[in-house]
Amino acid sequence: MKAAGKHLPKVYITRRIPPDGLTILKQSGSCEIEQWDSDDPVPRSELLKKVSGIQGLYCLLTEKIDKELLEAAGPNLKVVSTMSVGYDHLSLEELKKRRIRVGFTPDVLTEAVAELTVALLLATSRRLIEAVDEAKNGGWGTWKPLWMCGSGLTGSSVGILGLGRIGEAIVNRLKPFGVLKFLYNDVAPREELAAKISAEFVSLDELAKQSDFIMVCCALTPQTKGMCNKNLFSKMKRNAVFINTSRGAVVNQEDLYHALVNGQIAAAGLDVTVPEPLPTDHPLFKLKNCVILPHIASATVETRNAMSALAANNLLAGLKGDMMPKEVPL
Ligand code: DGY
Repeated sequence: MKAAGKHLPKVYITRRIPPDGLTILKQSGSCEIEQWDSDDPVPRSELLKKVSGIQGLYCLLTEKIDKELLEAAGPNLKVVSTMSVGYDHLSLEELKKRRIRVGFTPDVLTEAVAELTVALLLATSRRLIEAVDEAKNGGWGTWKPLWMCGSGLTGSSVGILGLGRIGEAIVNRLKPFGVLKFLYNDVAPREELAAKISAEFVSLDELAKQSDFIMVCCALTPQTKGMCNKNLFSKMKRNAVFINTSRGAVVNQEDLYHALVNGQIAAAGLDVTVPEPLPTDHPLFKLKNCVILPHIASATVETRNAMSALAANNLLAGLKGDMMPKEVPL
């Protein structure tokens, strides 16, 4: 029960969230909650009004937490908790300046993201979406030896761009498919992890040259922004398949479009794009060799609940000044 005269810290939640997270916040009885209770994002102008005077902000990857927003929130804001593993939507510099602590949700989504990445790889390399369309639309004539052929994983080389928890989980799922070689590139070699999964550190050029499948698993940072560009695509094998489940901005989409149209690479599977949603008339949607999903890598009921719960626990710990279960070091 709220002690007479004692004001609870105000928390704003920017969206309708999975039940576990909301239950944790409500049952804590330690904050006053206001929420944008909709599946659609809160309009920026509304958000700027609602954050005024709050102590805690529970947000998603769709909200830009920048100088303007932090100024609108004012000096009471102590903690920002994002229900995502990625935090490229947060201006860490501005948060650090104001000593605002930041929570995020790594680990709980690793398995779901790895699973979807493998699903997208198979859908793209074995041309599943194209084949389903052909079957439905009368393109399925007689059985033809040269029709709808893709590339198999057995005996292949897979390149991981950004080897972390998710990259490791992808490698472990791909091993039973008979992949011959795992290569990776990152800002620096990750020796312990790489030894555990028998992955070899190579330069970006070598990764492009040797891989039959490239999986992008890195975070979006100023260093990785646009790193998958014409330079990379021009070095890839013509039968190579490119998969991105990290952030759209890691890829130069125009360069990718040209690589796909000109047959520089065989196909691409994207769970993330710029912008999101990708407009339905975007040229990439017109290509048969490009499979586009609407950013659903972590979308299992269990995972989204776990993310919402972890973000809630991060927020509560931050408000109390305790150690957060998962905090972004600033
Ligand atoms: C994240 O959490 O950053 C993913 O992109 C969505 O789950």
